[in-house]
Amino acid sequence: MWPRDSRSAAGMTPESGQKVMNGPLQIDVITIFPQMLAGFLGESMLKRAVRMGKADIRMVNLRDYTTDAHRTTDDRPYGGGPGMIMKPEPIFSAVEAVRGEKARVILMTPQGRRFDQAMARELSRESHLVFICGHYEGVDERVRAALVDDEISIGDYVLTNGALPAAVVIDAVVRLLPGVLGAEGAAEQDSFEGGLLEHEQYTRPAEFRGMRVPDVLVSGDHAEIARWREARAQERTLERRPDLKKNK
Ligand SMILES: C[S@@+](CC[C@H](N)C(=O)[O-])C[C@H]1O[C@@H](n2cnc3c(N)ncnc32)[C@H](O)[C@@H]1O
Repeated sequence: MWPRDSRSAAGMTPESGQKVMNGPLQIDVITIFPQMLAGFLGESMLKRAVRMGKADIRMVNLRDYTTDAHRTTDDRPYGGGPGMIMKPEPIFSAVEAVRGEKARVILMTPQGRRFDQAMARELSRESHLVFICGHYEGVDERVRAALVDDEISIGDYVLTNGALPAAVVIDAVVRLLPGVLGAEGAAEQDSFEGGLLEHEQYTRPAEFRGMRVPDVLVSGDHAEIARWREARAQERTLERRPDLKKNK
């Protein structure tokens, strides 16, 4: 086990609100499809974060917490109706087996709080996240009532199961852990950080098919570039997402 910090401090420095890395962010994903995320976790930024010791991600097969010969995780809904409901017993057993003192237990559900960048930041300050991924028609209500700290939705649409939604949240959270993005980019300048969309970006060549990069960006005048970027971020947000400015 890695050394844990206390939940009240949440591993943060008071000034920056950023997590102090005194151990990897432990992430447990409880699912009946543990293989579904294998490729995703084995590539790119997540792979690097795990290799760097910034995150420790475990897939937990819910069927390992069933007690019958058929490893049953679902049953018919009381009151009738279509589809199957995930049984509470294996989910309770799995969560109780993996969660320590500091775990934040999250149910992935289209009925949850809509996920956003602020929530990703908030979760990146935790020391242990446990994701419960539903399937079929969802999970028995007693899971929601007695086991979870948060319910998160990734948007107003319905997917087949919670593995992809959990992966979306994990990606957004892990890239915010100190040191994970490294030279690739500073998350602070990304869209939604500070309530704005990011300004437009260009790379070489300076002219492509008659389209020129704005002169200011090739001027070498860093103060002017910073002013231009700030102005463009403001304008772009107003054009595309005026709601972000209203919510600020
Ligand atoms: C088919 S959905 C169940 C939807 C449920 N019958 C309802 O109407 O709320 C199966 C599972 O996929 C996951 N899921 C589907 N859409 C999601 C979303 N937008 N955000 C988060 N999780 C989602 C949840 O874990 C859910 O339990």
